[in-house]
Amino acid sequence: MCGIIGVACGRGAFSKPLGSIIKEALKQLEYRGYDSVGYAVIGESLILRKAAGKLDDVAGKLNFEGVDGFVGMGHTRWATHGSPNDINAHPHSDCTGRIVVAHNGIVQNYLELKEWLIKKGHIFRSETDTEVIPHLIEELKSRGMTTLDALRRTVKTLRGTFAILVLDLDEPNKIFFARYVSPLIIGVGEGVNFIASDIPAFLKHTNRVLVLKDGELGYVSQKTVYVEHVERGVVDVSRRIRIIDWTPSMAMKGGYPHFMLKEIHEQPMALRTTINGFDESLDKAAEMIMEANNVFIAACGTSYHAALVGEYALAKLAGRLAHPFIASEYTKYLNAIDENDLLIAVSQSGETIDTLMAVRKFKGRGARVIAVSNVVDSAIPRDSDLPIYTKAGPEIGVAATKTFTTQVAVLLELSYRLGLKTGRLTKSEYLDLHRELTMVPKVVSSVIRRYEGHCKELGRRLKPITSMYYLSRGVGVPVAMEGALKLKEISYIHAEAYPAGESKHGPIALIERGFPTMFLAFRDEYMEAILGNVMEMKARGAYTIGLVPEDSSKLIEKLDYPLKMPYLTPYAASIVYVVPLQLIAYYASVERGLDPDKPRNLAKTVTVE
Ligand code: M6R
Repeated sequence: MCGIIGVACGRGAFSKPLGSIIKEALKQLEYRGYDSVGYAVIGESLILRKAAGKLDDVAGKLNFEGVDGFVGMGHTRWATHGSPNDINAHPHSDCTGRIVVAHNGIVQNYLELKEWLIKKGHIFRSETDTEVIPHLIEELKSRGMTTLDALRRTVKTLRGTFAILVLDLDEPNKIFFARYVSPLIIGVGEGVNFIASDIPAFLKHTNRVLVLKDGELGYVSQKTVYVEHVERGVVDVSRRIRIIDWTPSMAMKGGYPHFMLKEIHEQPMALRTTINGFDESLDKAAEMIMEANNVFIAACGTSYHAALVGEYALAKLAGRLAHPFIASEYTKYLNAIDENDLLIAVSQSGETIDTLMAVRKFKGRGARVIAVSNVVDSAIPRDSDLPIYTKAGPEIGVAATKTFTTQVAVLLELSYRLGLKTGRLTKSEYLDLHRELTMVPKVVSSVIRRYEGHCKELGRRLKPITSMYYLSRGVGVPVAMEGALKLKEISYIHAEAYPAGESKHGPIALIERGFPTMFLAFRDEYMEAILGNVMEMKARGAYTIGLVPEDSSKLIEKLDYPLKMPYLTPYAASIVYVVPLQLIAYYASVERGLDPDKPRNLAKTVTVE
């Protein structure tokens, strides 16, 4: 987590001070953490300023606009070691104040390093793990090393994960960097180079990107990009520079009050682009599934819910059992894995550490890996045998929305193609399902148009509540789980999802007059059973809301607040039904006076275990 940006521009590259450029970049990275902000700039001297709080709140105090220079770095923090206060904010400096470091990741062996450095006379100011890095570089330089040599040695000494930027007054034109696991991307511009945790930070200035790999380090200056591998020496990166087709406006709010609302509304486009982009990689993936002995699906949070939809469709439509699991729990299967097995890793960012570790450990056992990700060249697809990309465009809101629906679209099409290959689906059944999927973007548009007002009203009604259930059956269960996660993470209302049949085995004990319960009923074999569950909840006083097929008159009659959904198979419905749930969560958050884009304690990409 944490967002870092470095800019090497020389004098006069921009019409405004470098501090402003760094501030704008940090704004695009704030989704990665917003506990504190800081920057360091080298001009006449080295200026370092930092403070606890969100960028907008502390920008004036830090005087971004008033600071110019020829190289600089910025950091927005998601606290791990040390509370979110001014002192623990990044960048951190060595004893002399001539070397400063911004870091994303965790230095696992920082305590032993700190102890060693203190014995050598170094003075520490913060409680962070990061602070060992500038002191280590200082220590190594005092033994005659150059900054680059000292950084290389430091990288070899650190255990953990890191994306590091270093400024050193002894080499004032360069930003040194190193990457291991935590993302770091160079933006190659004209007479200015950038280096950041994510592309939107510099997209306004350049769309030529170089994604750094694990173990790479080096420096950027105004006109140079130098990269080497910590063990293998100089790396020729000229052929690794790619042009990104995201536009800067894709990473801005475009008139919406929040990124989340914009991204909910972008779903028809994101789905259309993803579905139009389906290619032979899905056939390859289907073949890999057919060849595999066991199939596993690893993911976290929202991506895990997409994985559960995938599991359902693979079983129902292709007769293929897959084992979905929450990526951080990967160790439970490891002893059972060998080279005949397959892991499908689902991660919008492609950088989630738990999913990445699952990928690496499964690969270590010889398993093959398919990745489903939204970020080209990110760590998880890079480590996989077959990357498949959703084409949702940049997602900035911490709550995943368009990346979920596009992940589901990919996993459904994969299941459809596998069903066709295994003979579980006839050609015409496949074509019907595929055709329906291509219609989903339009259906999503019309559902947003028709129901946004109702979702706003529901958001208002939910404002005072403290707890809510989401119940469904079949493929609706992961959609219910996603609805509950959305409400919980951005409105802080406790929300749980259960298979509706399971509600009688405990959860129903909480039901009393007015307890809100959301039912999701799809056009499938569970409709009758869901009606029964609605009646049980109503009998105990629950306030029942439901997304139900438009012709399910019995259900519509019984629910307190029904929203009628279009005629769809449960598969396409798993994409469409989640959209009103996203909107309800969004409006509940706004009604409560919260910022849905920046929920407390969360960060968009979780790069610490
Ligand atoms: O980037 P990933 O898809 O791997 O992220 C996984 C989760 O961290 C993510 O889905 C998280 O649960 C979101 N906050 C959900 O809105």
